[in-house]
Amino acid sequence: MERTVALTAAMVVLAGAGCAREPGGGTPDAEDGGIVHVVCGATEEWCAATTARFSGTTGLRADFVRLSSGEALARLKAGRGSVEFDVWYGGPADGFAAAGAEDLLTAYVSPNAGAIPARYKDPGGIWTGVYVGALGFCSNPELLTELGLGVPDSWADLLDPKLAKDIGIAHPSTSGTAYTALWTQVVLAGGSTDRALEYMRKLHPNVLQYTKSGAAPAQMTARGEVAVGIIFSHDCVAAKEAGFPDLTVSFPAEGTGYETGGVALVNGAKNPVSARRFVDWALTVEAQEIGPTVKSYQFPTNPDAKVSDKVVDLSAIPLVEYDAVEAGAAKTALNRRFDGEVAQAPKS
Ligand code: G6P
Repeated sequence: MERTVALTAAMVVLAGAGCAREPGGGTPDAEDGGIVHVVCGATEEWCAATTARFSGTTGLRADFVRLSSGEALARLKAGRGSVEFDVWYGGPADGFAAAGAEDLLTAYVSPNAGAIPARYKDPGGIWTGVYVGALGFCSNPELLTELGLGVPDSWADLLDPKLAKDIGIAHPSTSGTAYTALWTQVVLAGGSTDRALEYMRKLHPNVLQYTKSGAAPAQMTARGEVAVGIIFSHDCVAAKEAGFPDLTVSFPAEGTGYETGGVALVNGAKNPVSARRFVDWALTVEAQEIGPTVKSYQFPTNPDAKVSDKVVDLSAIPLVEYDAVEAGAAKTALNRRFDGEVAQAPKS
């Protein structure tokens, strides 16, 4: 996959001067090329805007590859010993927790992490939260009316046979969004993975397709391929803004899961000094106010960052107790069961 490089005037000037500046006084050490290779799990647009702004602000270069959570994890595993990325930015923290348990990430407590509330940080310092998003339903009301249905407001509603092949959701092996949906079922079932998989098996006849990326069902719903997408609610808001204003966001009354989008250092990163600079910067107000400029309406974890009025009020929706560390520990085994007992992961 092609890397997208953020080249800025500031970077060119610094490169011309023969070194990359380390704001705060120092320069990257001999081991560090003054560049950050980011595996990025947020939207392509946000990844591009973020790496460009990072370069503009710090004078360090940055490039990124956008990968869904499970793909990023697989790629980090495959690259063990010859690491291609320096930082993982964006995507639900349970993926980061799973990677941390496999020694693919290295603990780093940024001096800027003090500003981030404890509930959005790994207690072991493996990842720090940069945004929060709630899982919801994204509906095409016209299609629902044709089916004789209202906008769903419970997980139970999605099992209606009238919705046969009319639901879009990603596959949890590739997508952090879909894994959030799966782990939400575990929480709602009081911790029973058996009952969670039972729900997913019941949902299966209503699923048209398991996509690779979590946000893809927003487009499917917008185009009328399915009536309902199970996605992060902010991805539905982005699709509304992109020309599909009739799409409707709703939340399940039983409770819904949420993600803490993470940032972390990759173990064995070839540019560790610049990578730490990226993590430090990702926690700043400047970095956390980029999202809404590219239609990404997650809640920022830095309490001083402005919150767009398009961001969902997390206190107004029924969130389940979502423990990203616990969800991450269960991720590989639970996804393997999903592959075997519900549906195979989509082929690339
Ligand atoms: C979109 C959302 C992010 C989320 C990501 C997960 O980009 O806007 O909030 O973290 O999807 O991606 P995935 O493809 O792994 O579900």
